[in-house]
Amino acid sequence: MQTARLSIIIPILNEVDNIRPLVSALEKALSTLSWEVIFVDDHSSDGTMNVVRALAQENPHVRGLCRIGRKGLSSAVIEGAMSSSSPFIAVMDGDLQHDETCLLPMMHALETEGYDLAVASRYVAGGKDSGLAHKGRRFLSQVGCWFIRLILKTPLSDPMSGFFVIRRKHIDQQVEKLSGKGFKILLDIILANPSPLRTKEVAMVFRPRQHGQSKLNWKIILSFGKMLLHHLWIKFPSKT
Ligand code: GDD
Ligand code: MN
Repeated sequence: MQTARLSIIIPILNEVDNIRPLVSALEKALSTLSWEVIFVDDHSSDGTMNVVRALAQENPHVRGLCRIGRKGLSSAVIEGAMSSSSPFIAVMDGDLQHDETCLLPMMHALETEGYDLAVASRYVAGGKDSGLAHKGRRFLSQVGCWFIRLILKTPLSDPMSGFFVIRRKHIDQQVEKLSGKGFKILLDIILANPSPLRTKEVAMVFRPRQHGQSKLNWKIILSFGKMLLHHLWIKFPSKT
């Protein structure tokens, strides 16, 4: 078996019905690439990890990491990335809302075109956020993106995206600076990197959730603020 060039890190919490269809979709989309998928589960109560382990017995592309007594999308991604060795890391949701066919164009941007980071964006031509659960959620996401673009002066159209491919050195070299709090691991990584990453955006239609429920809640939104403060603190440490 070839070693993986791309490790796809997928944080999961109670996604039992999404694992098999997601792996089938990845197999179909990535037939020309050597890849692995690492599911990072926070001890789900619905048997998600049992499905991951059964699948890993059948399919050498599949690995799983089960964390006990810990929670959180971003910290799960960091631990999954640290457990892999591939030169390229993808981060993707485990609920089929991210379109797996974006992975090849994102890998091409890094491997062939020399970019450091490729982000699947809902807000470039051809992209859509129609899969977000309701109007309020779309509004929240759009306002969040606008706010982040304003305060960070980032040219990214979708800084709140949770679907991207990055050269592993941009995680490895900054890993101690990451906050690991909340859902926004892409922003966490961008803020931890001292100089801007050469970034390409790839249009994505964000799909509606078919099985299970979103884990977004007010505590997670608060964690977003904590993550931003963490980076402000690193940039402007208290003099006292
Ligand atoms: N291990 C682990 N631990 N996984 C988690 C946790 C956790 O505490 N919380 C959520 N996840 C997993 C979910 O199981 C799913 O695979 C993925 O993280 C995204 O979680 P959702 O609950 O589906 O998030 P969402 O759809 O509301 O938000 C997504 O969309 C945003 C775009 O608006 C996330 O992908 C965000 O990262 C993305 O920015
Ligand atoms: Mn989701």
